[in-house]
Amino acid sequence: MESKRLAAVEAVKEIEDGMVVGLGTGSTAYYAIVEIGRRVAEGLRIRAVATSVQSEELAVSLHIPIVPFAEIETIDVTIDGADEADGELHLIKGGGGALLREKIVAASSKRLIIIADASKVVERLGKFPLPVEIVPFAYELTLRKLAALGCEPVIRQKDGGAFRTDNGNLIVDCHFGAIEHVKALGLALHGIPGVVEHGLFIGMADKLFVGQEDGAIREL
Ligand code: 5RP
Repeated sequence: MESKRLAAVEAVKEIEDGMVVGLGTGSTAYYAIVEIGRRVAEGLRIRAVATSVQSEELAVSLHIPIVPFAEIETIDVTIDGADEADGELHLIKGGGGALLREKIVAASSKRLIIIADASKVVERLGKFPLPVEIVPFAYELTLRKLAALGCEPVIRQKDGGAFRTDNGNLIVDCHFGAIEHVKALGLALHGIPGVVEHGLFIGMADKLFVGQEDGAIREL
């Protein structure tokens, strides 16, 4: 979609020679990786780390140098998409199932730039079901504890079976409706054994580029 591509191209302008760049996951991050590949072909010298097998494969196919995490100290900038973003730049992520790797990479990034189309900007998070990565062991018990937090938890399916993340875990899509207290919910989710990570990115994003239908870009 053109508005996603516009936001992605704008964000990639922030990448400079010599940077270590985190590559996000999803259909919007796809455009950023393609644009980075174009600039690398033009001579931009960067090193990159990826937040999913899918993004790494795309980057490799575009000759973007992917380096092992052992070789880097910090990540200068990560460009990633989001499923929802509110006015404080709190996010819901994980629609593509890559939230754990995305959060690990974001937490080690000096800057996290989010790219999205206008449909992702919301007043209050939660209309999009919150993705939560859980271990398969005793998942029935974990689901009960998630439901006790006030949501309807649904195990994500793909190709007739349970979706598995790049880490071999399950994703539970938690239908909360509007989330009133994002920080409290994040803490409560971390308190459940069996939960590996959740898709609330609270206070992590530094900038949001929103591609508009009319071709303009809004920066938050
Ligand atoms: C993947 C993500 C994505 O960034 C999020 O789902 C947005 O995807 P898209 O750009 O395809 O709408 O968090 O885990």
